[in-house]
Amino acid sequence: MSETSAAPNPAALRARAEIDLAAVRANVRALRALAPGAVLMAVVKADGYGHGAVQCARAAVAAGADWLGTATPQEALALRAEAGLPADTRIMCWLWTPGGPWREAIEADLDVSVSGMWALDEVREAARAAGRPARVQLKADTGLGRSGCQPGADWEELVGQALRAEGEGLLRVTGLWSHFACADEPGHPSIAAQLTRFREMVAYAEQQGVRPDVRHIANSPATLTLPEAHFDLVRTGIALYGISPGPEVGTPADFGLRPAMTLSASLALVKQVPGGHGVSYGHHYVTPGETTLGLVPLGYADGIPRHASSAGPVLVDGKWRTVAGRVAMDQFVVDLGGDRPEPGARAVLFGPGDRGEPTAEDWAQAAGTIAYEIVTRIGTRVPRVYVNGEQDG
Ligand SMILES: Cc1ncc(COP(=O)(O)O)c(C=O)c1O
Repeated sequence: MSETSAAPNPAALRARAEIDLAAVRANVRALRALAPGAVLMAVVKADGYGHGAVQCARAAVAAGADWLGTATPQEALALRAEAGLPADTRIMCWLWTPGGPWREAIEADLDVSVSGMWALDEVREAARAAGRPARVQLKADTGLGRSGCQPGADWEELVGQALRAEGEGLLRVTGLWSHFACADEPGHPSIAAQLTRFREMVAYAEQQGVRPDVRHIANSPATLTLPEAHFDLVRTGIALYGISPGPEVGTPADFGLRPAMTLSASLALVKQVPGGHGVSYGHHYVTPGETTLGLVPLGYADGIPRHASSAGPVLVDGKWRTVAGRVAMDQFVVDLGGDRPEPGARAVLFGPGDRGEPTAEDWAQAAGTIAYEIVTRIGTRVPRVYVNGEQDG
């Protein structure tokens, strides 16, 4: 195991999110095996779902990801500038607003998504200014009702105008793509409807003369459960980090995935209190009898959901404990039931789950949310400590 963090002594940290890069690499290999006919885009937006975009991007590319995906152009530009990736690593970003850094994106060889005519106008202008063609991926709204053009509305115009700009040497249409609404609910009727519409919209564009490098619609749940949705490329985010998209899809182990993040803290205090003692703001927990309390120095400012008050699970000294009362900004309390671990003992909020600890899915359930939100919201005050950074597994 090799530590690649700048943190001098991880054991002495208030709290840490340990990121197992060997797990990320193994997850990439597992996902590639599940989608053998497609190339893999590792989605590393939102700082790699809280795991660290640069480190996870490097690990994913080392394990065979050909593409990286981000939401914002700033995220993609930062990766190109800072991650030290092979020059041929394709990076796509899809969340643009008017006045965005189109020229910088073209000069950094990013693939940019175009979701409407205003964006095509701006990309043409930027390509003229840059003196080189843009790589453009046309986004189809096949039913999510978010970004993208709609069939019978603006798709036909977008395709026509993009082909005209291609003819003028201003861009190359490198992709045709879309996104699912309900892929995490296998069997949902919208899935088949979106696939049909995607095939039709792709067929229309190709009949008009578009020759994309890649056609893609599959996110993690579709990659895991729907081979007919893989097309040329799969865009996996949450599965890359070893987390299942949701309970209906299955567990990470069902797909050979391993959670990469372990979040833990050092107990700041252990003390004895009498029965009937109110705990934390609002006194929503009152000790049922004489007991010991442990202070966990993590709070909602660190991304611990306040909605997990009186519910979130924590492993301390081999036993699951529950958040006692409210999660505060910087700390919460667990009732240790008379046990007296030393201050500094490790409290594990979540991890892979195979060392007895809860998982991010357990926290999601406790907080009434999804595991995506649990890992993505772990704040910048929590240092990331990278392990297994070497290409040894
Ligand atoms: C457009 C797009 N593609 C792919 C993904 C990856 O989704 P998942 O994390 O479910 O794999 C996302 C994430 O929300 C997305 O917005």
